[in-house]
Amino acid sequence: MRVVRCTEVGEITDLVVEEVEPPTLRSGSVRLKVEAAGLNYVDALFVQGRYQIKPIPPFTPGSEIAGRITEIADDVESFALGDRVVASIGLGGFAEEVVISASQATLVPEGLSAHAAATLTQSFCTALYGLQRRASLAQGETVLVLGGGGGVGHAAIQVAVAMGAHVIATASTPAKATHAAAAGATVVLDPNPAHLKDAVRAVAPDGIDVVVDPVGDAATEPALRTLREGGRLLIIGFAGGEIPAIPTNLVLLRNRSLIGVDWGAWGMTHPDAQAALLVEVFAMINDGRLNPPEPTCYPLEQVIDALHDLLGRQVTGKAALVMPG
Ligand SMILES: NC(=O)c1ccc[n+]([C@@H]2O[C@H](COP(=O)([O-])OP(=O)(O)OC[C@H]3O[C@@H](n4cnc5c(N)ncnc54)[C@H](OP(=O)(O)O)[C@@H]3O)[C@@H](O)[C@H]2O)c1
Repeated sequence: MRVVRCTEVGEITDLVVEEVEPPTLRSGSVRLKVEAAGLNYVDALFVQGRYQIKPIPPFTPGSEIAGRITEIADDVESFALGDRVVASIGLGGFAEEVVISASQATLVPEGLSAHAAATLTQSFCTALYGLQRRASLAQGETVLVLGGGGGVGHAAIQVAVAMGAHVIATASTPAKATHAAAAGATVVLDPNPAHLKDAVRAVAPDGIDVVVDPVGDAATEPALRTLREGGRLLIIGFAGGEIPAIPTNLVLLRNRSLIGVDWGAWGMTHPDAQAALLVEVFAMINDGRLNPPEPTCYPLEQVIDALHDLLGRQVTGKAALVMPG
């Protein structure tokens, strides 16, 4: 089977696609024929050696996958051959086959494509965890989503709308603006930090209740300034580059809060709660409140181009590596 390999930590361009022996089935596990693997910033950070956890090469990146079960260990009763499942696996997903613990797999709702399924866990779980568990978003509140045409941003718009909020988003291209509007944003603004506060004030004169911030850098401070009395800013990521330093007087003013959203670490340390969160996301998909979009697809061999596009702000919505067959 073919896998993407990182043989030396550093450059995305050093990734290679190699033929390797398929992994061995073990007690409590299932074998998947991977249909698609979601592309995420964390995959690039592992390869660049910029993530908190530093795997020793050689390793295969790829943290979220969807695929069909092709083999089941004798002691596993929860799945049948042919079931389509998703799994969050940290590493190893950019591969034609994986062996994972059965407890890591969750059945995909009927009607959801493998490509959409492979790209929803990180974005939609982060959005639901952030808006519901961390921000306690209430019906009727107003939410500003930065990077609304990106993976987390699009999911956050859908989740906020499903929770009864009004959503304003930012997006830097017409395609991303269309993607944000399709998720349910009623207004989509240019993300230029120099004009963001005034642009938001013009459409939300009473201020914002919750900011969803997966962008960081120069976007965070003007977004913080849009918060009304009691407003909360969810710190999710730093796709824009720098981790911003925030004047804390802006947090004191109007009794605002900065709230960290570390869904990834929370999911690893609270696997049962994470499993319940994913079940909640799937229930919202099943009853039509959420509708994960189709990603931009790249063949496995184009992993370098795909990660390059992701890091270069070129991807609208999510991107996935798709396996042949
Ligand atoms: N805390 C958690 O648990 C968690 C979970 C998932 C992801 N994250 C993090 O959240 C961040 C966003 O992830 P994502 O999947 O939404 O990424 P994404 O799909 O690439 O979206 C990020 C958005 O950021 C905006 N952006 C502004 N400046 C940028 C720049 N210089 N380069 C790239 N993008 C830029 C872009 O929107 P515009 O072009 O429209 O401005 C882009 O669409 C990442 O840092 C990721 O690691 C955190």
